[in-house]
Amino acid sequence: MSSDSPAPRPPALSARRSFRGWLALLGGALFATPILAFTLPQDVRIPPVKARPQPVPALFSHWSHNTQHCYSCHPGVFPQAPLGFTHQDMREGRFCGSCHDGKSAKAVSAMRCEGCHVAR
Ligand code: HEC
Ligand code: HEC
Ligand code: HEC
Repeated sequence: MSSDSPAPRPPALSARRSFRGWLALLGGALFATPILAFTLPQDVRIPPVKARPQPVPALFSHWSHNTQHCYSCHPGVFPQAPLGFTHQDMREGRFCGSCHDGKSAKAVSAMRCEGCHVAR
């Protein structure tokens, strides 16, 4: 018997390994399909950083932004996950403020509160 060739793996074990490999592949395929593109929510409520009686949480409408490409906002500006931020953040040019700065789009400060804090 030569000592430099390793013993072959028991067949049962390697079969189980490759089955797991296929499971992992299948799972990967299921979760990697661009499902997101088909489940675009019309309106998204931005979760307040701190609970408050008013104004109502701001509403973002994909519909009123349909002149923009998805990638102008995702994933750079908005990660497509619930995310809290404040007017201070927007004044610093982040989130909605990255466009609503009075140059690319109307400044937040020049818009009606109810334009964003809409009950609907
Ligand atoms: C361009 C959209 C927009 C406009 C216009 C707007 N807000 Fe907001 N506001 C937001 C977003 C987005 C948040 C973060 C989510 C939330 O807390 O509702 C927010 C948060 C807030 C908050 C809590 C956080 C903070 O920064 O204090 C208050 C209070 C608030 N807004 C008041 C107002 C008032 C008063 C006006 C009108 C003078 C106004 N907002 C106009 C989008 C807007
Ligand atoms: C003008 C900016 C903007 C554009 C353009 C935009 N989105 Fe969004 N999207 C948002 C914001 C804001 C949210 C809520 C915050 C977050 O989830 O990051 C959001 C949330 C989402 C979510 C998660 C919703 C949830 O319930 O959490 C999906 C999915 C999404 N967008 C898909 C898209 C697709 C697909 C496009 C292009 C057809 C698109 N968005 C274009 C701003 C935008
Ligand atoms: C990628 C740039 C961009 C970002 C980011 C963005 N907006 Fe806008 N938004 C626009 C533009 C441009 C318009 C003007 C309408 C148009 O021409 O598409 C607009 C219009 C609006 C309007 C007026 C819609 C109407 O009734 O005509 C509201 C309200 C608004 N945005 C809220 C928000 C809020 C809230 C956020 C953040 C959650 C946000 N926007 C983020 C570009 C942006």
